[in-house]
Amino acid sequence: MRTSSFVLASIGLTLLFASVGTAAPSGEAVYKQRCAGCHDQTNPRIPPRTSLTQMPAARIMKTLDFGAMMTVAYPMAREDREAVAAYLGTKAPLISLPASAYCSDRSVKVSNTPKFSWNGWSSGANNARYQTASAAGLSIDQVKNLKLKWAFGFDGDITSFSQPSVIDGQVFVGSAGGVIYALRADTGCIQWTYETNGPVRSSVISVPQGEKHTLLFGDQTGWFYGLEAETGKQIWKRKIEEHDAARLTATPIAYKGVVYVPAASWEETRSLDPNYPCCTFRGSIMALKISDGTQVYKSYMVTETPKQTGKTKRGTPTFGPSGAGVWATPTLDEKRGLMYITTGDNYSTPATNMSDAVVAIQISTGKVVWSKQTFPNDAYNSSCGTDKQNCPEEDGPDYDFGSSAILTKLPNGRDVLLAGQKSGMVYALDPDKKGELLWQVRIATQFPGASPSVGVQWGMATDGQKVYAATSSPGRTPPKDPLDIRRNILDPKQGGGLTALRISDGSKVWYAPPIVCKDDAPSGCSPAQSSAVTAIPGVVFSGSMDGHLRAYNAEDGKVLYDFNTVRSFTTVNGVKASGGSMDGPGPVVVGGMVLVNSGYSRFGGISGNVLLAFAP
Ligand code: HEC
Repeated sequence: MRTSSFVLASIGLTLLFASVGTAAPSGEAVYKQRCAGCHDQTNPRIPPRTSLTQMPAARIMKTLDFGAMMTVAYPMAREDREAVAAYLGTKAPLISLPASAYCSDRSVKVSNTPKFSWNGWSSGANNARYQTASAAGLSIDQVKNLKLKWAFGFDGDITSFSQPSVIDGQVFVGSAGGVIYALRADTGCIQWTYETNGPVRSSVISVPQGEKHTLLFGDQTGWFYGLEAETGKQIWKRKIEEHDAARLTATPIAYKGVVYVPAASWEETRSLDPNYPCCTFRGSIMALKISDGTQVYKSYMVTETPKQTGKTKRGTPTFGPSGAGVWATPTLDEKRGLMYITTGDNYSTPATNMSDAVVAIQISTGKVVWSKQTFPNDAYNSSCGTDKQNCPEEDGPDYDFGSSAILTKLPNGRDVLLAGQKSGMVYALDPDKKGELLWQVRIATQFPGASPSVGVQWGMATDGQKVYAATSSPGRTPPKDPLDIRRNILDPKQGGGLTALRISDGSKVWYAPPIVCKDDAPSGCSPAQSSAVTAIPGVVFSGSMDGHLRAYNAEDGKVLYDFNTVRSFTTVNGVKASGGSMDGPGPVVVGGMVLVNSGYSRFGGISGNVLLAFAP
């Protein structure tokens, strides 16, 4: 409800009213005081106000109470939360699905020996994101005839970023609204739902436990869960990271009764507040027993505990070292008893030697066996992109690894690790020589006005001959309309491209240039190809921030198939849903189907809330 702007002009006055109990708090005033500073600006990591007004108020409450805004809301009274949620949001309830959204037979059966599966971030533990012909069940000719089979809507969400896991005919998927769904792959009907504490971005993995199966995943508030796959009942949950800016973005991996959980954080963004003492979060990997969630070990990617290092010009204390968050799924190397993880930048001074690195960790103990830093001295936080009040002296450039390393074989039979970085570089490293460099190739370069996300953002794919690396590189331009409150908008002509490199020597086989946005595309359209790539024999799939899912011929990079997801869909669960930018997860190809998430309001992209299933 909107009240007189006269009263709202003075936040102090409104707060005085609230404190003496003479007037209910005004949602608009709370918004101006607590939210506008971030949501009225165009920071690529913050969904704009126009996206928030499409969400149910109940959902905004959930975001404030348990979700991504929990820390922002810590000092807020309950009635202030309710007021701002009601002011911004719609009246739609949190989850209210018609009976027709549920399967008539709601039993869930998960096979220990599935005929085909894509269970986790990649189709296999080497993170190649390659599905064999028999598991994909899709030929190059059938790809050209893919048609939408069903669409599933995530009620009230503005982003769809949890890549589904599929085991035979069974789908498990999370959502930004914090609801986990068990669905049938053939129809998209719901078997059960489970509500978490926060937005779920990781994939849900299924692991056999005795007669049954345990589902494992984390959320964006630092909680990690073990559910019974057959019923959706919680077995255990625990907080992985006490730091209040923690985010569990990476999909975990499971091995011999233990689950390995990487931790990243949004502390980098919190430094936008010049009074925020930056920074104390350290990236880590934690090993937990799958049976009960008890800790086996936790290894930090910044080994020292952060200490006060000084003060900013305005007197805010600074802390370090910090950062080196782990955003991507670990890569399993059973033969060497290792797992490889990739790390992000430091957030504050001093920079450390395991940021922007590929790190080899002994699976059994958590000890770092070797690490290969590909970009030293990278300390960055969001303040560096604005007023720099909280920016460390290194001042970026923010060249995280956001994607997993791929373990595969060279034609000469030797193992190789392939890693793509936000810097625009693709590396081949030797796992037998502590990550020694075999070759490196630049697939994208920084240009003025670009975000630091130049190169590989969320993941490459390889078929064992070539590695397919998509370029992110969204461009940002100032708005032309002087009344546009956004400071920057995504450039509809800048970013994107897909490169195929020979894994033996890094030589370029082909380059498919980006397909720029049409003039009538909605604001937020960008040709940037940030989402993870997927390959099957003969075909490479890449989703773009323009909302198109494209399939490329693996031999020459020609576009074989193009589906524009930016439209509204009739969904099998009766939820109002539309597609938008594709970022983060990549297409899942399994058993003759292609499943893909669409909608990504972060980074200034087009909002959307749909999971799409295609089949020939
Ligand atoms: C310090 C900056 C900051 C402030 C202040 C802030 N937000 Fe946010 N907000 C963010 C960022 C960053 C994200 C994206 C979080 C993410 O990606 O996990 C976000 C996301 C959200 C979302 C979407 C979450 C989702 O699950 O998709 C909602 C709703 C939201 N904010 C509401 C609010 C409200 C209401 C307020 C005021 C009470 C507020 N925010 C104040 C930075 C801020």
